[in-house]
Amino acid sequence: MCGIVAYIGHREAYPVILKGLKRLEYRGYDSAGVALLNGGLKVYKKQGKVADLEETLVGKDLHSNIGIGHTRWATHGEPCDRNAHPHLSGNGKLSMIHNGIIENYVQIKKELVSKGYEFVSDTDTEVLLKFIEDIHLNNEGSLEEAVRIALKRVVGAYVIVLLDADNPDTLIAARKGSPLVIGIGKGEHFLASDASPIIEYTKEVVYVNDYEVAIIKKDELILKNLGNEKITPFITKLDLELAAIEKGGYDHFMLKEIFEQPSTIFDCLRGRLDAHNGTITMSGIQQYADQLVNANRIIIIACGTSWHAGLVAEYIFEEVTRIPVEVEYASEFRYRNPIVNKGDVIIAISQSGETADTLVAIESAKSNGAIILGVVNVVGSSIARTSHGGAYTHAGPEIGVASTKAFTGQLAVLTMMALKIGLMKGTLSEKRFIHLLNELNDVPEKVSAALLQHEKIREIALKYQDAKDALYLGRGYNFPIALEGALKLKEISYIHAEGYPAAEMKHGPIALVDENLPVVFVATKDSFHEKVLSNMQEIKARKGKVIAVVSEGDDAADALADDTIIVPYADELIAPMINVIPMQLLAYYIGVAKGFDVDKPRNLAKSVTVE
Ligand code: F6R
Repeated sequence: MCGIVAYIGHREAYPVILKGLKRLEYRGYDSAGVALLNGGLKVYKKQGKVADLEETLVGKDLHSNIGIGHTRWATHGEPCDRNAHPHLSGNGKLSMIHNGIIENYVQIKKELVSKGYEFVSDTDTEVLLKFIEDIHLNNEGSLEEAVRIALKRVVGAYVIVLLDADNPDTLIAARKGSPLVIGIGKGEHFLASDASPIIEYTKEVVYVNDYEVAIIKKDELILKNLGNEKITPFITKLDLELAAIEKGGYDHFMLKEIFEQPSTIFDCLRGRLDAHNGTITMSGIQQYADQLVNANRIIIIACGTSWHAGLVAEYIFEEVTRIPVEVEYASEFRYRNPIVNKGDVIIAISQSGETADTLVAIESAKSNGAIILGVVNVVGSSIARTSHGGAYTHAGPEIGVASTKAFTGQLAVLTMMALKIGLMKGTLSEKRFIHLLNELNDVPEKVSAALLQHEKIREIALKYQDAKDALYLGRGYNFPIALEGALKLKEISYIHAEGYPAAEMKHGPIALVDENLPVVFVATKDSFHEKVLSNMQEIKARKGKVIAVVSEGDDAADALADDTIIVPYADELIAPMINVIPMQLLAYYIGVAKGFDVDKPRNLAKSVTVE
C-alpha cells in the first residue's frame, strides 16, 4: 500500500520517478507527488492518479538529479492534495515520503502541538516528519541520527525516504514492516517499493531489512541499524525482465495475466514435476518434508484470494495426507492468541509476500516455535525471507490489482506439496499419485482450452452486466472457487456477490433468488455432481438465472443452465485451477462493460502493507 520511488545520481530524477510511480500505481492511486531540489526544495502533489500529477507539471522546470515520489493509498486522512505525499517539515527544509502506518502518531502529535508545531494534513506521516525535524533542530547530530532517535520511539510500520535541502547529495531511508529495494547503478541509486521501477536501470539490488537505516549518496550506500552500527549490504541479482511488467498488447494487465496462466502454471511446475519419471521435487520444502509428514496439524494463513487458495489446499491436503488442516484469515489469527503446538506446520500463502497481517501472523507463530513454509510469488519479499522454507509460485509480476495468475500458481504449488507428502506418508497410493501427477501436468493445456471460451464468457458478461447482486455456488473443491468468483466480481465490477457451498444456499441465501438474480454454479463433474445438479434445479424452480461452468460433454448440466461455459474435464483435485478461469474472465468482462478501471479498482491496493 502506497508506492515510493526515489532517485539520486546523474540522470534527471523526475522522469525516473514518474515512470517508477506509474509502475507502482497498483499499490495505491488516491494521490501522487514528487519532491525535487531545484533552487531549493520543490514539492508537487495532486489528488488522483500519477497521470493527473503529470498533467499539472507539464511545462514546469523540474530539473534535479535527486528526488522522491509517492503514490498513495489513503489510511490517515481522505484522499486530497493536502494529504498527498511528499510532506514538508515546518521550516520547509525537509521533505518525506512514507509507506506504512505510525500507530502512536496521536501521542507524538500532542507533544509536537504543545511545542507549537502546526499541521497542514491529517496524516501520520507529517507527524513523523515533524518529529524528526524537532529532534534534528534540538540535537547537535546529523539528520541520520535524528531519524534513528525518532524511529526508536515509533510504533508501527514504515518505509520512509527523506530529502534534505541542506544536504543535496544525500537521501536517508529506513524500513520496518514495509518493503524497500535499493537499486545500485554506476554513480546512481534507485529506491522503490519493489523492483519494477528499477529493472531497466540495474539488476543489482539490496533488499533493506527491518530496523535498518540507509544513507544514500550517488556513489555510496551505507546501511546501519538503529544502534548506529554499520551493516554490510547484501547485493542480490534481479531475475526479472522489463517485458514481464508491460501490457504486451493487451487492453489491461488483468487480461494479460489471465491469458498468461498456461505459461505461468507451466513455469511453476517446470523443474519440479517430472511426469515421465513420476516424481515431484521441491527443494524449498525438502528439508522440512519429515516435519510435514509427521505434522499433527497444518495451519494455513493467508488473506483474500490467497486464503481461497488455502481453502482448496485444505481439501487436497486432508484428502491425500490425512493431516488435519485449518485455514485462518491472517488478520484473525494474529490477534486471537492462537494455539500453535510443536508438531504444527504453518503454510503462509501470499502473492506479494508483503501483506502486513500475514507477515505478523507468521512472526507470532514463529515465536511459538512453529515451522513456517511460505508459498509466495514475489521473490525476495518479506514473507519469503522470514519463512523457514517454502516454494515460489513463479507467476511473474502480477500488476492487475485483482489476483489471477498468482492464484493458479498457489494452487499448483500447494497441490504438488500435498501429493509429495501424501506419497511419502503412504496415505496416497502410488497409482493415484501417478494419476494426479499426470493430471497436474495437463493443467496448462486445459487452462488454454478454458481460455478459448473467452468470447462466450464476454457475451454472458454483457447479458448480466446490470445485475445488482449475484450468487456463486459450488461444492467440495469447487466451493472455494465459488468464493473466488464472487470476490473477483465484487472487486472488478462493484456488483454485490456472495459465494456459498451450494447446499448451504437452502439455509438462507435462497431467499434472494428471483428472476433478476444470476446464480453462477461451478458444476464440473466430481463426486458431488448429482447433488449440484439438484441445487441447480432448486434455483431454476425459483426462476433464478443459472450460469454454469460445466465439464465438456455434460449434457444434463448444460440443459439445466440458462448459460453454459464449457471447460475440459479434470480430476476433482486438480479442477479448481481450470474452473477458476471462467470466474476471472466473467468478472473482467463485466467490469470492462461497465466502464471501470479493472486494473485499478476503487479503494483497493495490490499489496496491503497496513493492517
Ligand atoms: C484479490 C486480491 C486480494 C489479495 C490479498 C492478499 O484479488 O488480490 O484479496 O489476495 O490482499 O494478498 P497477498 O496474496 O499479496 O498476501
